[in-house]
Amino acid sequence: MNRGIFISFEGIDGAGKSSHVQAVADAFAQAQRQVVLTREPGGTPLAEKLRDMVLHDSMDPLSEVLLMFAARRDHLQQVIEPALARGDVVVCDRFTDATFAYQGAGRGFDLNVLRQLELWVQALPSGGLRQPDLTLWFSLDPAIAAERLSNARVPDRFEAQPAAFFAKVHQGYSDRLQADSKRFARIDASASLEQVREQVMHVLHQRLNLQTPS
Ligand code: TMP
Repeated sequence: MNRGIFISFEGIDGAGKSSHVQAVADAFAQAQRQVVLTREPGGTPLAEKLRDMVLHDSMDPLSEVLLMFAARRDHLQQVIEPALARGDVVVCDRFTDATFAYQGAGRGFDLNVLRQLELWVQALPSGGLRQPDLTLWFSLDPAIAAERLSNARVPDRFEAQPAAFFAKVHQGYSDRLQADSKRFARIDASASLEQVREQVMHVLHQRLNLQTPS
């Protein structure tokens, strides 16, 4: 049986990662892998309800953090762990790096508390911590991301944040990459859609030996 693979996509709002999530899922499906395409916050009926709350209802930073991790816990138990146990490929639009970047770096929430919650929520029965096998970080100058977002739909609580917030979130992602560079691949999201897709496919080939059609 194939080994399960867990891939997460990260980046500030407007970095353009979502356009590539489906392409990655399709590439694995073409390689005859079972794929679970999912997102955070969300991915289960309960976590999607929590998503709606954190994106739209005002709340204090601790409530926001707890709801993110509550959604993650349900998502891990209902979707991610069973899929990995079956040997599927889990393609997930955001995971815990987003909490460290948005709530930690962006909002200034205590990183030690986030680490503690991460330990509780992502603990594996066998010991150790569930983390993605590969995290694609779509790195983009926050000013360019803001320009791309300005044409978007009505902004949610995060998209409505000022440029200074996204500069901090961007730095938060950069810090996560420094701390765990083997897990991360940095994608230059300022390139054209086609060039970004090529970078993504190259990383999948290099890191996970995925054969992609040329
Ligand atoms: P999305 O628009 O990429 O689906 O993400 C939803 C928003 O939720 C996005 O602005 C980032 C934010 N978010 C957090 O603040 N913390 C988290 O842990 C996650 C997963 C998302």
